[in-house]
Amino acid sequence: MCGIIGFTGSGNALEVLIRGLRRLEYRGYDSAGLALLTRDGISVVKRVGSVEALEREVSSLAGTESSVGIAHTRWATHGGVTDRNAHPHTSCDGRVAIVHNGIIENHEELRAELIARGHRFTSETDSEVIAHLLEEELRARPGDPRGALTSVVRKLRGSFAFVAVSTWTGDAILAARHNSPLVVGVGKDFSIPASDVLSFLEWTDDAIFLENESCAVIRPGRVESWLFTGEELELKVTKVAIEVSEVDKRGYVHHTLKEIHDQRFTVTRTLTEELGPLGEAAKLLREARRILLVAAGTSYHAALVGRYVLAELADLDVQPVLASEYNLVSRWVNGDSVLVAISQSGETADVLEAVRDAKQKGAKVIGIVNMPGSSLERLSDVHINIRAGPEIGVAATKSFTSQVVALIRLASAVSGKEVPLDPEELGAGVEQVLEQEPQIAEIASILKDSKDVYLIGRGVHYPIALEGALKVKELAYVHAEGLPAGELKHGTLALIESGTPVIVLNPSDDTHTDTLSNCQELKARGARLIGISDRHHSVYDFFVRIPRTGSKYASVLLEVIPLQLLAYYMALERGAEIDKPRNLAKSVTVK
Ligand code: M6R
Repeated sequence: MCGIIGFTGSGNALEVLIRGLRRLEYRGYDSAGLALLTRDGISVVKRVGSVEALEREVSSLAGTESSVGIAHTRWATHGGVTDRNAHPHTSCDGRVAIVHNGIIENHEELRAELIARGHRFTSETDSEVIAHLLEEELRARPGDPRGALTSVVRKLRGSFAFVAVSTWTGDAILAARHNSPLVVGVGKDFSIPASDVLSFLEWTDDAIFLENESCAVIRPGRVESWLFTGEELELKVTKVAIEVSEVDKRGYVHHTLKEIHDQRFTVTRTLTEELGPLGEAAKLLREARRILLVAAGTSYHAALVGRYVLAELADLDVQPVLASEYNLVSRWVNGDSVLVAISQSGETADVLEAVRDAKQKGAKVIGIVNMPGSSLERLSDVHINIRAGPEIGVAATKSFTSQVVALIRLASAVSGKEVPLDPEELGAGVEQVLEQEPQIAEIASILKDSKDVYLIGRGVHYPIALEGALKVKELAYVHAEGLPAGELKHGTLALIESGTPVIVLNPSDDTHTDTLSNCQELKARGARLIGISDRHHSVYDFFVRIPRTGSKYASVLLEVIPLQLLAYYMALERGAEIDKPRNLAKSVTVK
């Protein structure tokens, strides 16, 4: 939800901002803009559209000498997708420019007060109030940026990460964060505050993760930071263990396709390598009286798989909870509870809110996260890193399989029994599934114009049906619904007509025979069946074979890959914007 970046230092700010912005585009992509501090004041360029379009537009600034600037890629919350609502926003006098990620909840009240004091607004956004408030404060105390910033943040309610440049503060970038992410990449003679580390990896792997509810004055190569309360903070530089090359497409047309293929090595990496203190996490789970698995979207589907895994392998009764619906269960969370928060980005606002609530009630938090240094990682009592590597495609793919593997390892750590997955068998299995890509692409071209697609599975395969449906919806923009196979006859069967596509997840385990009966019921009503299984049956019109393994959990990991490929190729056939599906963003940092 919006990416922000700044640059101050020796070097060309424009170049860094544009390159960094390209890396941030997966966080929001309806408009983009930047502001450069020059000898003559602040120059702003912003417009609806991609960073690429912005880049063409800023060619006019190419000769502008500036070593201080800020930039933004937007996912609209308040105010339509228009040039005027794009960031940066400036103060009336043009001496302050800001970019913001989050929502200022009291913006209407602040706007009314500012207008009453003579300010003129040019956008419909909640963010613009920050520029006007900073203008007032900096004007009132020009030599005290610290005091000015602290005074502004104390007036704001909601969630925010913002960075600002001003003609009052020269090469200093002012920054603040409250429940939205902000990290500063630091080099010898430059600093790059940004929404995530991926945006500045090209220049530095030294990062300072700013504390929640803190402000910062960021100068070339140095940062000072303090809490909203005024308390000074000692800052720690963390080395980011991500290679720049991991963030690139590496010859693939789309990040999403690359990330589906990455599963060749990511699932086995999560299975065999160090993820963090699994033993400690297992102990917390064994001692807990209530265990909640809290997550959103694809990560929630991993939580649903986790419910089966923890029940079947560790005899634990856990409750998966959608992060956005956590309020209902919050009343039962206390010191005897453990909240397992699952999030690829570690920045999903609903997940973080649940985590903060649980911590406040004395519960322990186990974070299962992919992005190192994320807010979830830092808020958790124990964190497990799934090590799927950077995931840029907005549709989650490799993070899902790694989350499932991490949950299986966690369940095994609780039970003390061996992990029921064989790395070699699993690695070979992923290869065999990927080899069927041409066949899957053919099925996709047959399904691409379907009005609806249904997916069914029983037991632990049911969450995979949900995950497959989510992939088809967000990538191909085709309505899809995942169902427990046994539920069909309780209503949805009424929608099945001649030719309705139904994808059936049916490996040969304890769910196989019953699901096969449901296939016959569907067939009798004219459904077109796409079977995904290690066992062929004549009931299927199309068939994708997954290898037979000794483990039902290996089937779960293998059967989701054809669904990811199917959704990808349906999207490709339909000409959809694959890495950045419309209306979505990778990291959902607003509620
Ligand atoms: O970063 P998180 O795992 O917390 O993100 C949760 C969801 O926003 C995410 O899974 C989303 O549903 C994806 N677009 C699914 O592909």
